[in-house]
Amino acid sequence: MRRIVKLLLSRLGYKIIPEERFSGSYSPSCPLLELRGITDLEALYNISLSIPGMISPKSGQMLYTLCAFQKTHGDVVEIGSWQGRSTSFLARAVDDSSNGKFFAIDHFRGNVGKESEYVVGETDLSDLKENFQSNIARIGLTETVEVMDMDNVRAARELEECSVRFLFIDGDHSYEGVKKDLQLFVPKLCPGAIIVFDDYSKNFPGLLVAVDEFLTETKASRLMTYENTLVVLL
Ligand SMILES: C[S@@+](CC[C@H](N)C(=O)[O-])C[C@H]1O[C@@H](n2cnc3c(N)ncnc32)[C@H](O)[C@@H]1O
Repeated sequence: MRRIVKLLLSRLGYKIIPEERFSGSYSPSCPLLELRGITDLEALYNISLSIPGMISPKSGQMLYTLCAFQKTHGDVVEIGSWQGRSTSFLARAVDDSSNGKFFAIDHFRGNVGKESEYVVGETDLSDLKENFQSNIARIGLTETVEVMDMDNVRAARELEECSVRFLFIDGDHSYEGVKKDLQLFVPKLCPGAIIVFDDYSKNFPGLLVAVDEFLTETKASRLMTYENTLVVLL
C-alpha cells in the first residue's frame, strides 16, 4: 500500500523526504547538501547541531532567512565566526541567493578576558581555526566563505572596496569592542543594509549601551528582536 501511495505521489511530481531529515539531532548519514529545490530550514538546523557554537540553531534559521531573502544587493560580513555555526547559516544564504560575497572575520583567539569560556582544546585555543575550516569544508561551503584570519581593524582595511548589505556582529562584546566594529564597518554599509547584533542582552551591558548609542546617533531603526538578538535596518 505504502509503495502504491509513493508511486502515485511521485507520478504527481511530489518527492518523499526521508524522516531522518526532520529529526532533532544531527546524523552523519543525513544528506547534508541535498537541500531540495526550496530551502529546507530543518536541514540547516540539523547541520548546525554538528558545529560547536554560541548561537542557537533557531537563531541561525532566522539569520538564514533574513540574509537569503534580503532584496538589497551587496556583500555579507560576519564579525566573530568561532567554529562556524553562524557561518553555516549565513554562507548558505549567500550561496543560495547568489547575492554578493561572504566574509568571515575572526582572529581565532577567542574573546580577551573570557578565554576560559572559549577553550576548545586541552588548554588553549589553537584548534579554533582548524575546527572552523574543517566544519565549513564538511558542509561544502569552503568556496563560498572567504576566511579573514585577522582582527576587525585589519579586516576593515582589506575590505576597503566592499559594499555591505548584511553585517552580523558577534565578536568582542565589550562597549569598546562593539563601538569599534560599528566605527569600522558602518561606513561600508549600503542603503537598506541590515545589521544583526547577537547577545543584545543584560548579560552584556557594554554591548547594550554601544548599540543604543548607535541607534540614537544614526537613522538606523530597530526592525525586530529574537533570542537576545537585535535586527536593525539602515
Ligand atoms: C561569541 S564568539 C562567535 C560565535 C559564533 N558567531 C557562533 O556562531 O558560534 C566571538 C568570536 O569573535 C572573535 N573575536 C573577538 N574579538 C575579535 C576582533 N577584534 N577581531 C576579530 N575577531 C574577534 C573571537 O575569536 C571569537 O571566536
